[in-house]
Amino acid sequence: MQRTRMMIKWTHDTVRRRFMSTSAAAIDWWNHVGHAPKDPIMSVTEAFLSDTSPNKINLGVGAYRDDDGRPVVLQCVRDGEAKIAGTGFLESVSASVSSKLVEESVKLIYGKDADFIKEGRFAGVQALSGTGACRLFAEFQRRFYPQSKIYLPIPTWSNHHNIWRDAQVPGRTFHYYHPDSKGLHFAALMDDIKNAPDRSFFLLHPCAHNPTGVDPTEEQWRDISNLFKVKNHFPFFDMAYQGFASGDLDKDAKAMRIFLEDGHLIGCAQSFAKNMGLYGHRVGCLSVLCADAKQAVAIKSQLQHITRAMYSSPPVHGILLVSTILSDPHLKELWKKELKVMANRIHRMRSTLRESLKKLGSPLNWDHMTNQVGMFCFSGLSPDQVNRLMKEFHIYMTYDGRMSMAGVTTSNVSYLANAIHEVTKFG
Ligand SMILES: Cc1ncc(COP(=O)(O)O)c(C=O)c1O
Repeated sequence: MQRTRMMIKWTHDTVRRRFMSTSAAAIDWWNHVGHAPKDPIMSVTEAFLSDTSPNKINLGVGAYRDDDGRPVVLQCVRDGEAKIAGTGFLESVSASVSSKLVEESVKLIYGKDADFIKEGRFAGVQALSGTGACRLFAEFQRRFYPQSKIYLPIPTWSNHHNIWRDAQVPGRTFHYYHPDSKGLHFAALMDDIKNAPDRSFFLLHPCAHNPTGVDPTEEQWRDISNLFKVKNHFPFFDMAYQGFASGDLDKDAKAMRIFLEDGHLIGCAQSFAKNMGLYGHRVGCLSVLCADAKQAVAIKSQLQHITRAMYSSPPVHGILLVSTILSDPHLKELWKKELKVMANRIHRMRSTLRESLKKLGSPLNWDHMTNQVGMFCFSGLSPDQVNRLMKEFHIYMTYDGRMSMAGVTTSNVSYLANAIHEVTKFG
């Protein structure tokens, strides 16, 4: 007994002494942690925000701005908000609202009469916007195809590489853009699809490709889909800009409908960040077409199993808002009209910028500005020219020369054209 008490006392004394000697300076747990690499898109915004010039222009941001350069709250969103006000959305979202969002999202891509919808041959979950949907799929891919890789276009949205890397799925690339034509490198793309091992996973942008604004034609999509069939590849579509390429939701979904007609079992990430202006609400959907309804139930349960451990359930407000807009015919029509207005404004800015450069006597061909579609123009400006635009003209974009046309307005377009002409006129 005496001995045990002594032992305890000794232990306490030792602990106290050790505490006294280390309490002056706490153990530095994170000494070995250095800075993460800067995100190329986020750092453009940071540089823009710290610039005090009244002339500054931000062409880095991938979200819509109106002709005064301001973020827009769509009228359909305001009306949708009014409709759901006071519906007690502090509780987690009900299964029926969640299914509604998934079903309406899927109809948006494949059309409301697609057979697989009636047959319940799809699995879908609400995701944390487009990024979250891609991340979920990457995780799902690794779990059920642990040896697989993901083929990404060159170039692609830079975060695609991070997302699949963090899910431990090795990345491969395939040709997409041709710097000389500033268009699609179709022959090389087809070669890469052909040369990839059978049953490979490919990520495709169905419309308004980020960062190039270059989309395959309908005919080319048919060829791509055929080749996918021959090779048994899996098509994963990242639909972040539906409506922004043509101003029409159905036209922008054409590529996916071609793949559907050809009988592919497609995976798709959808985002409502841009086309509903809901960036901050993080509303998206991940859907996977299945062989039959039984498989759909199993896949949905696996997707839910993954989200449960990642973040349990998604925030409820945005899902209510989006499912309300999509299932109310009046609000949906209003949304389509507003979407057209946004797409048209961007298209107008493309033409105005191209014409302004022509009028300034630019020795270069800027036709790609209007040939490319969607929010981004892959200008062809070199990193040095981009640097000069930032330093001398306070115009910000990523170093690959990607310009968000949403940042171009009637009042800044001639300043922008002059600046581009200044940095490009001697080649
Ligand atoms: C091609 C592509 N996919 C996904 C996303 C992610 O969008 P979200 O903001 O919905 O996560 C973006 C955003 O820039 C994108 O360009």
